Amino acid sequence: MNDKRTPVIAGNWKMNLGPSDARAFCIELRARLGDLRGRRVILFPPFVSLPVVADELERTSIEFGGQNLYWEGKGAFTGETSPLFLRELGCSTVLVGHSERRHVFGEKDQECGRKVRAALDAGLVPVLCCGEKLEDREAGDTFQVVRLQLKYGLGKVKAEEAFLVAYEPVWAIGTGRTATPEQAQEVHALIRAWLGEKFGDEAKERIPVLYGGSVKPDNVDELMARPDIDGVLVGGASLKVDSFERLVRFQA
Ligand code: PGA
Repeated sequence: MNDKRTPVIAGNWKMNLGPSDARAFCIELRARLGDLRGRRVILFPPFVSLPVVADELERTSIEFGGQNLYWEGKGAFTGETSPLFLRELGCSTVLVGHSERRHVFGEKDQECGRKVRAALDAGLVPVLCCGEKLEDREAGDTFQVVRLQLKYGLGKVKAEEAFLVAYEPVWAIGTGRTATPEQAQEVHALIRAWLGEKFGDEAKERIPVLYGGSVKPDNVDELMARPDIDGVLVGGASLKVDSFERLVRFQA
């Protein structure tokens, strides 16, 4: 972390915590965090749980957002979700190009770029996820892969717009195998340098770059101690209030 950027702790619930579990989670989290300052906390519930989350987190500083979106505002797109609907529910943000969207559902880099643009146009802050597969890393192609994901994903973004980047190596997601803080820091520094080249120094210092992939209470502190790791995007360990609260209260 770095004093110039507020740390971000984000929970990606994936396809977990339906409406009633989501309500119980939010009531408990709200009580435990109180008016916690200096940390930005974001939840990404499944779409069907968003109304409940919106309801329970009203008048708190805890943010929430969608796990995905479509780039059109409305129309005949069965099964898709409009960025306008997410805004209407009070979402401030949305994930784009999560590894499971890319590798389970076949989402392409260009589609991620359209989604990022649509999110911004609707007033949402997109979190563009990127990360290499194990075979890319073993072939020494990590940064080449990540750079292409950034190039297409952020291709239509202007320097002054607000967005986040989440670096999530595919081999570390849900596997219990976290990137070492050194491995994560190395890629984060490269991402930040790339942001500087594309968007200039102001954006480079401002844009938060989160790490994701098997983040847990016992490794969050050392990850957050690295200068270019501005926050974490957490799956499994975000599903229980106890462990999520511990992540929010990391000590770096
Ligand atoms: P994990 O998931 O923390 O369960 O590895 C992270 C993510 O996919 O965002």
